[in-house]
Amino acid sequence: MTNQVDHSAPALPPGLLWRALHAVRRGLRELAARLWSSLWQVVIVAVIMAALVALGDLSVGLALIAFASFVASVALLPRQDVDPLLEAELRPSPVSGRSRSAMHVMAEALPDPVILLNRTGQVLSCNAPARGLFASLREGSHISSVIRTPEFLDAVSAAPKSRRSVTVIYAERVPVGRRMEVTVAPLTRGSERDGNILVLLRDLTEGERINQMRADFIANASHELRTPLSSLRGFIETLQGTAKEDPGARERFLPIMAEQASRMTRLIDALLSLSRVEMNAHVPPSNLVDLNDVLGHARDTLERIATDSGMTLEVERFPKAAIVRGDRDELLQVLQNLVQNALKYGNSGGHVRIEAKHIPSLGRQTRGRYAISVVDDGPGIAAEHLPRLTERFYRVDVDSSREKGGTGLGLAIVKHILNRHRGELAVASKPGKGSTFTVMLNEAHAG
Ligand SMILES: Nc1ncnc2c1ncn2[C@@H]1O[C@H](COP(=O)(O)OP(=O)(O)O)[C@@H](O)[C@H]1O
Ligand SMILES: [Mg+2]
Repeated sequence: MTNQVDHSAPALPPGLLWRALHAVRRGLRELAARLWSSLWQVVIVAVIMAALVALGDLSVGLALIAFASFVASVALLPRQDVDPLLEAELRPSPVSGRSRSAMHVMAEALPDPVILLNRTGQVLSCNAPARGLFASLREGSHISSVIRTPEFLDAVSAAPKSRRSVTVIYAERVPVGRRMEVTVAPLTRGSERDGNILVLLRDLTEGERINQMRADFIANASHELRTPLSSLRGFIETLQGTAKEDPGARERFLPIMAEQASRMTRLIDALLSLSRVEMNAHVPPSNLVDLNDVLGHARDTLERIATDSGMTLEVERFPKAAIVRGDRDELLQVLQNLVQNALKYGNSGGHVRIEAKHIPSLGRQTRGRYAISVVDDGPGIAAEHLPRLTERFYRVDVDSSREKGGTGLGLAIVKHILNRHRGELAVASKPGKGSTFTVMLNEAHAG
């Protein structure tokens, strides 16, 4: 980060300059084309004016003004006549109509947005995904009304002559930021050159987001591992060097080294759990599990940890057997992660309660649900953090989490396990008022 301010005059961005030049060039070309197509009219008006001046009916000045006005009107006023090429394209011809409707049927079957243009860039047809992408896309309108990227428009104007398909990237910031790969393919048959143009769009946004997430995940995991590793290496070097003969230093360093090694083990265990759950994400669990059994097991294992950290744990049970389709070990891990968080981030000497509630079904179609809430009386979590808590490595306070042996993966594992169980996690918290993490699971079908 730098605080320097650039005081030089704002330069035109190169892209903008290029686009402006391009627009001027296109305008001049159109002007010349209009004058050329009206050349005969200009010549005739010039001859009439000259004749009137020669006959003495008109002054030279007036004649020049009238002539200049005529030329300007030819060059600048919008024309009523339709471009003959465009007219030919839009006129229904039995052959092109048939092939176009075949193309239309094919385009409708494709999952990606497809737009068929005539050689001048006018929209002949488009499929439903394309209409979904561009609300203002209409048959008969020019493609530049929806995609204005100069590279794309150049590819469209070059397509009828080039016979080559061209792919350009089209980025949009509003209404939502997205990047698309647009392929402009001229449709040629044999030696026939001036055919229609097919525009295929592929949304790159989702793929790029997943790639970014993967890269971030690897960077985060390596960073988390590197920190304890470099601390361990530092201690090893000190013990080999300056503190070689210092039993006091060895006594002090060894427990810290052991803690750094267990931090690495915890992180690797958490990464392995996460990858195991992710691998099974699409296979819903088939075993029947009684949630009372999971609650009992959780109490047995966690009560001692609570007492060790000077807190109390109270575990409720469902009044009747609470059967769900689930993986017992994974459900136990959900409760462990939530209770461990409540113990870690709750107030020292505080109280953690596990509540168990059955929510009966409302009708025949819906199933009843079981809600297990882990409630603490700790400092709570500010609202802006709540939506991000289940992201991998997301922590409200990184130092406090590390200090307490956290990896930042506990709630990500909870979320993945619940996704696999078609369950849900709800978090309610107010700073100063404690937090409640509620797990919802569907009742198993009877029989
Ligand atoms: N009961 C809680 N009270 C306050 N903050 C919590 C609680 N549970 C989770 N958090 C916050 O959510 C973050 C993510 O939790 P988690 O994914 O389990 O990672 P960690 O390994 O840090 O515990 C924690 O770092 C903490 O900031
Ligand atoms: Mg945790």
